[in-house]
Amino acid sequence: MTEKKYRIAWLPGDGVGVDVLDATKIVLDKLQLNAEYPIGDIGWEYWRTEGDAFPARTIELLKNVDAAMFGAITSKPVKAAELELIPELQGKGLIYRSPIVRMRQMFDLYICLRPCKAYPGNALNFKNDIDIVVFRENTEDLYSGVEFNPVPQELADVLNKLSKPFAAFKDVPLNELAISSKIVTRKSSERIIRAAFEFARKNNRKKVTVVHKANVVRATEGMFLEIANEIHREFPEIEMDDANVDAICMWLLKNPRNYDVIVATNMFGDIISDLAAQMVGGLGFGCSGNIGLKLGIFEPSHGSAPKYAGLYKVNPIATVLSAKMMLDWLGETEKAVRLEQAVADVINEGLVRTYDMGGSNTTLELGAAIAAKL
Ligand code: IPM
Ligand code: MG
Repeated sequence: MTEKKYRIAWLPGDGVGVDVLDATKIVLDKLQLNAEYPIGDIGWEYWRTEGDAFPARTIELLKNVDAAMFGAITSKPVKAAELELIPELQGKGLIYRSPIVRMRQMFDLYICLRPCKAYPGNALNFKNDIDIVVFRENTEDLYSGVEFNPVPQELADVLNKLSKPFAAFKDVPLNELAISSKIVTRKSSERIIRAAFEFARKNNRKKVTVVHKANVVRATEGMFLEIANEIHREFPEIEMDDANVDAICMWLLKNPRNYDVIVATNMFGDIISDLAAQMVGGLGFGCSGNIGLKLGIFEPSHGSAPKYAGLYKVNPIATVLSAKMMLDWLGETEKAVRLEQAVADVINEGLVRTYDMGGSNTTLELGAAIAAKL
């Protein structure tokens, strides 16, 4: 039987996305993963020159791959983004939307999986033995893109009619009013919560913590918590507790070892996952997978850090660990285990370190040091 050859879309993006994917390639090559890596155009340059940071040809590419590795992309607010378009594209009403958010929604990558583990020997660990896995809903909530500024009269009329609390805003001029909708569905809530419990069951984890704000944001967060209580009944051997999002920011810092698997709606999951990543070394260690039924896109949770672009200075570990997550997702368990061990060994030895780790090695040197352990 011939071994399967994977097709893995290679999406460096811009900024340090290029640097960290270059380092990751060294590692995947050393692992001799049987794969081809077609490169996809994506990033700020395509926004400037084509008016689309995520061109149609890249969407097509993603329809025909097993998985993708993604670096990072510069994002700017709508007005600042428009100013950077080439003159031919100015004034055409083009609106910048973050490509990663579009990818997640377009390919229904409903799980954002973000493990945060304190690898022994990492001087940046906030405390030792932290091992938290965040499950973040990845397709809806405040990221739905249903937003209004100014607010159309029609919408204001409906809200006046249907929502009592909207009375507080009824005299605000509509061009001075902005609405971003927090939209949550039962279906997406069920599947992310179930994914968190299934992960706990499969990996012998003891507890799932549901993070919410059900006391104030009752419709969406209230429903999310209610659904969690329902799903928990399918997993009686796993403990469940819940916490308000503000409170968990304190408790996570105070007692990080009390937390195991965390599940949250999109925006709260975004915030909690940065906090958890910082406790295990910062964004240089924050790995992430955007996972759907057919496609997984793996990326570091950090941004494009334009000031470091091309300097090969930043830490590639977050991206290398994201590649490890990709191997797990592809079913390449043996390679995934070896890769994680190699990363753990390099961290523990502390001989090759990028600037954030207190060293002066380059991105590629750290990638090569990991490869050398394989
Ligand atoms: C993340 C990032 C993205 C998000 C940005 C870049 C749109 O913060 O992956 O956590 O908000 O989801
Ligand atoms: Mg984030």
